[in-house]
Amino acid sequence: DRQPIVAIDGPAGAGKSTVTRQIAQALGLLYLDTGAMYRALTWLVLQSGIDIQDEPAIAELVSKCEIQLVPGENPQEPVRVWIDQQEVTEAIRDLEVTSNVSAIAAQPAVRKELVKQQQRYGRKGGIAIEGRDIGTHVFPDAELKIFLTASVQERARRRQQDLKNQGKGDISLDELERLIYERDRKDSTRTLAPLQKAVDAIEINTDGLTIAEVRDRIVALYHERV
Ligand code: C5P
Repeated sequence: DRQPIVAIDGPAGAGKSTVTRQIAQALGLLYLDTGAMYRALTWLVLQSGIDIQDEPAIAELVSKCEIQLVPGENPQEPVRVWIDQQEVTEAIRDLEVTSNVSAIAAQPAVRKELVKQQQRYGRKGGIAIEGRDIGTHVFPDAELKIFLTASVQERARRRQQDLKNQGKGDISLDELERLIYERDRKDSTRTLAPLQKAVDAIEINTDGLTIAEVRDRIVALYHERV
């Protein structure tokens, strides 16, 4: 028998990464950002010059590459991401990766391999894991499932603030909204394990809530139910 699993799913830019990292810290759980795995593979595909529609070539690549997620020195820092001995922590957040990742994450061979790795990583439980299909497919037996949402407008505003803080503030709110909307559309309409709220997930709309408030709400739910 395994330790509990907390599954956090939701659309792009709802604050899943920050919130899940903090929950993991508060509850003493491992943390897994599954989006980072799809992003790292996308980076490698683009880097290799493989056409993003070339499913056989990408299937071959995913079966051979090695993705490593290394927790930061302190829990405030994002996880460091490596693929085939190259550090891609920052590179996987680029616009080019972000706008191509959904097409690659929709491919059956890609999902099969990465889901297998995610399930292996969480087989003993004791993990807070975030993505799009964790509560529905990767760990359908998770003890606590959260579906984190926010309006597109709010998510675009937060994204713009993040970019400003990093000194990359030259993308308009309209354009950010369009990119978020487009990625959610692709992720929720794909055939395989689309973005969807699990029937037994608790939905939290984070509009107007701080990260600390969202974290505290989820930690309280964990203590209540797990
Ligand atoms: O969470 P993040 O925005 O980093 O995810 C990047 C992309 O990876 C998503 O837009 C989606 O296409 C894909 N993804 C997925 N399944 C997951 C996590 C992410 O398909 N469990």
